[in-house]
Amino acid sequence: MPLTQDVRAAAYLAMIRRYIGGGAVEPDGLAPSDNTRETPPITAADCSARLAAADRMFADWLAPLQRTAAEVAGVEPARMADALNHMHHESRRLTMCDDVLLDNVVALARGVIDQQVPGDFIETGVWRGGVTILMRAALTAFGDRGRNVWVADSFAGLPAPDPASDLREAIWHHLMGAVSLLRSDLATVRESFARAGLLDRRVRFLPGWFADTLPDAPIERLALMRLDGDWYESTRVALDALYPRLSPGGFVIVDDYGLPTGCARAVDEYRALHRIDAPLVRVNGQAVYWCKP
Ligand SMILES: C[S@@+](CC[C@H](N)C(=O)[O-])C[C@H]1O[C@@H](n2cnc3c(N)ncnc32)[C@H](O)[C@@H]1O
Repeated sequence: MPLTQDVRAAAYLAMIRRYIGGGAVEPDGLAPSDNTRETPPITAADCSARLAAADRMFADWLAPLQRTAAEVAGVEPARMADALNHMHHESRRLTMCDDVLLDNVVALARGVIDQQVPGDFIETGVWRGGVTILMRAALTAFGDRGRNVWVADSFAGLPAPDPASDLREAIWHHLMGAVSLLRSDLATVRESFARAGLLDRRVRFLPGWFADTLPDAPIERLALMRLDGDWYESTRVALDALYPRLSPGGFVIVDDYGLPTGCARAVDEYRALHRIDAPLVRVNGQAVYWCKP
């Protein structure tokens, strides 16, 4: 890419990143859709109350283990409050991803465009859509004219895991009630794309549970897939449905590999089953990616 085009691409992506980070971007006039609600921050006391409720709710599963909900979830109230406030609905952010995670998305997007790896981009688990907005912006910034960006989410929040098969995730699901189960709204996500001038025919929405939407989604090939559905099942369904459609040279990013949920188990099982030994590259303490050989 010639130098001036490169500089222009970097400036454009920096502006989009300020936008999805919740900033009003002047003088361009971009302001994020208003996701805020007048709710106070979540405190450690709120979290203690939620953990106590989880002790009662999951008593039948906890009793034989002789453990508390906090022990099974691997969290204590102050740390839980920090984590939940990061995703608190008061925030104007359109993504929970930090700069390191966003740099990774841009770098891999650019890599597959430059290398002409065929296929679309997808994120499974988009919340307010920020990463998919950045993916669509990266197509423009790096001169791609053909790929689509698929935006897959229930737009009804996280599904409820079965405590009989994964007690830890079921407890976390209860705890995530403090942030409305990360429920987002399709109309608001569309509006957030539109405000950035990026809502066009190349942005394709897949609203619904992954198990219902992904297996038959009309996606032929993918070059970049980013999985951010938190749970074992959400990760496994996405891998089963989408990895076979990832082009060689394409990338799969797994945001939640380092979370105390079943995501890493889903990835490790899938990789073992399909004898995938491409090295897992760490993005930060939580996310990993690999390149399909
Ligand atoms: C951690 S948030 C995603 C964060 C987002 N990628 C970002 O950049 O901030 C997880 C999202 O996954 C969605 N989700 C999780 N499991 C799902 C499933 N099985 N089907 C549909 N949506 C799911 C939730 O609705 C939620 O919006």
